[in-house]
Amino acid sequence: MFNIKNHELYIDQVAVTSLAKKYGTPLYVYSENKIIEQLDTIKSAFLDKYPDTHAAFACKAFCTKYMCRLLEKEGFWLDVVSGGELYTAIKSDFPADRIEFNGNNKSDEELIMALDYGINRFVVDNASELYHLEKLCIDKSVKANVLFRITPEVSANTHDFISTGKKDSKFGIPLDDAILYPLIEAAIKSDVVHFLGFHFHVGSQLHESNTHLSALEVILKLILNTKERFNYTISDFNLGGGFGIKYTDADHPIALTEFIKPLMHRLDTFCASHEIKRPHVSMEPGRYIVGEAGIQLYTIGNIKVIPEVKTYASIDGGMTDNVRPGLYGAKYHALIANKADLEKDTLLDISGKCCESTDILIKGLSVPSPERGDILTVFSTGAYGYSMANNYNKLQIPAVVVVKADEHELIVRRQSYDEMIEREV
Ligand SMILES: Cc1ncc(COP(=O)(O)O)c(C=O)c1O
Repeated sequence: MFNIKNHELYIDQVAVTSLAKKYGTPLYVYSENKIIEQLDTIKSAFLDKYPDTHAAFACKAFCTKYMCRLLEKEGFWLDVVSGGELYTAIKSDFPADRIEFNGNNKSDEELIMALDYGINRFVVDNASELYHLEKLCIDKSVKANVLFRITPEVSANTHDFISTGKKDSKFGIPLDDAILYPLIEAAIKSDVVHFLGFHFHVGSQLHESNTHLSALEVILKLILNTKERFNYTISDFNLGGGFGIKYTDADHPIALTEFIKPLMHRLDTFCASHEIKRPHVSMEPGRYIVGEAGIQLYTIGNIKVIPEVKTYASIDGGMTDNVRPGLYGAKYHALIANKADLEKDTLLDISGKCCESTDILIKGLSVPSPERGDILTVFSTGAYGYSMANNYNKLQIPAVVVVKADEHELIVRRQSYDEMIEREV
């Protein structure tokens, strides 16, 4: 995906600085080849290897019409968590029967929108949602497929802020018999929802599958108890997303095929030993599909040297276009695209231009002597960058460009100042 010619960094066959020049900075850039490579890995590690499976892109990672169209073409499903994400899918003509709806507080308006579009399934997060959904289904004389998101009470080995399966999590139905089983029974007996099975998502940026394996044991017990108590065999199980990527040299996530293999093996042996038909299995990765496929470009501006303390290089973006370092200490690697293989002699902290001391994108980055006008390239920014972008300090949301071999296409244009204030009276 990357190579260097004449000290210049290339993404696929396009010089990074030429993109900065043409589209301006800050800029989000994606390699389409890399996205497709990731989708192909999901096909070979999961979809083609195990029958009766599907994979949905957790579109929160990079929700754009471009992604919806690409995923549609590649045969993937879409996992949405809001009316806005669903609207993006609808406007991209994404097939309703390949959409699932997650989220811990779907409003009536969002549920109606999803029912009207006829999406495939809802991942119900709590009791109140089930009852509201049933009411709306009765009003509309439709039936909805539902899975229950279970809080599996496992602690993922990742940053606390992206760990979602712990007992005290805001997500999912608690593992409490008095809450869970009446809800399962209600869904099974309901005339307006069709109970498919269970879902969990234990956290993000996971480097190994041990937490998934622990969560799976919880689900297996539920599958068995549901059969014994209600004589009901679930048809579907969704193992969530969370597969880790490489942000820096410190990241060593195991290969997807290795991540998935023990889970599928355990599920198969469990089902065989209990004479239960193995449920349809789905996953919903976000970061894994787009994370490493994306880079961000910035222009270096002021350089502040504090003698014997540190040197800051300020960039023309920051926590508005990548909030992850400020939000939960996410780490990134970067280099100067126009000095890609020159000797590194300066240690920098890369500071954003927002009026917050926490707006530091990278600490302790080694670079060749930096100058105003250099193009900084930050790697593995394809997930949760554009989708978390905001207008703090009234900074504009940057444009998004997709590189296809030696070509490039603008898929989101930069927000204008007028667009920023057009809703204000
Ligand atoms: C329910 C659910 N599924 C899938 C994902 C995608 O996670 P990741 O991008 O780490 O694969 C998330 C992330 O927040 C999630 O909450």
